[in-house]
Amino acid sequence: MKAAITATAKYLPESILSNHDLEQILDTSDEWIRTRTGIRERRILKDPEKATSHLCSEVARRIIEKRGISAEEIDLIIVATMTPDMIFPSTACLVQKNVAASNAWAFDLSGACSGFLYALNTGAQFIAAGTHDKVLVIGGEKMSAVMDYTDRNTCVLFGDGAAGVLLEPAQDEHHGLLDAKLHADGRGSEHLYMQGGGSRHPASKETVENRMHFLHQDGKQVFKSAVTQMADIAEEIMKRNNLSSDDVTYLIPHQANLRIIQATAERMGIDMQKVAVNIDRYGNTSAATIPICIAELDEDGKLSSGNNLVLVSFGAGYTWGGIYVRWQ
Ligand code: UT7
Repeated sequence: MKAAITATAKYLPESILSNHDLEQILDTSDEWIRTRTGIRERRILKDPEKATSHLCSEVARRIIEKRGISAEEIDLIIVATMTPDMIFPSTACLVQKNVAASNAWAFDLSGACSGFLYALNTGAQFIAAGTHDKVLVIGGEKMSAVMDYTDRNTCVLFGDGAAGVLLEPAQDEHHGLLDAKLHADGRGSEHLYMQGGGSRHPASKETVENRMHFLHQDGKQVFKSAVTQMADIAEEIMKRNNLSSDDVTYLIPHQANLRIIQATAERMGIDMQKVAVNIDRYGNTSAATIPICIAELDEDGKLSSGNNLVLVSFGAGYTWGGIYVRWQ
């Protein structure tokens, strides 16, 4: 049985951090950030009392309302995140409590920027097995919590946000998630990481002083791998499914850098008109970028039955992958 996306929703915190705001606190410029990344502004969850579970719970509530179901009907909640409220319990359990999804089990999935694609494919397996009817898959991040706002190499790139989808059995074999190819290469772990707070480097005076509770990235190194792997996986998904560039309705890529997105579209031979881009408004929201794009297309009434969507991502791990969805 195939799994189809039957509802979508997004939730972005209201507070905007623009490139001009960053110019006030860092040696950077709006021009540098725009031309190197495509980002103009990002959203920040300012309330210190609120974290990723808040963003994800809003998404869950909106999906439940849009689909017109009760929370008790949800069988499983998967939250893809690298900024959970706490190491444990899972953020998914907090969402389960907040929306009173009393019959759902719940877990977090750690796939960094590819987390949503990992989670989407995982959720689809439970539908395919015939054991679950309603699986909520959410990507959510409070990236501002792990940003070093004195490090211009990283803090200009990321923003906060969440979005998700409801998976249900598809009406037939020709709709829903039709293909997925996911990858990992742990050798990339040395280029994009947050060392502090885990069992290797538990929180201490030293970990704080050494700024180990912030995200670190070797941008150039990650860029090289991302540009190759995103384009390769997009091409692979097209070949495996006999999709020509005309067949693809939308490319929905992870939003890390506009130049990576453009290179992927170019390799696929598709026009940028057919590419979901919102990095200018939200920056890189890690596991949330792809579902935010899907939710926006859906809200704008741009998705109709039979549309071919190619979803591709690349992120820490390294993790990367592609999913082919025929919209139901
Ligand atoms: O989502 C997970 C996966 N992540 C990615 O896919 C991100 C991949 N990497 C990238 O998108 C890019 O590498 C960056 C946007 C992070 C950086 O762009 P770049 O074109 O690779 O720049 P660079 O790292 O080569 O830096 C060029 C210069 C450096 O100055 P020097 O050493 O040449 O004098 C940096 O210090 O730009 C400088 N720089 C900045 N200048 C102004 C770095 N950050 C900034 C900044 N403002 N914010």
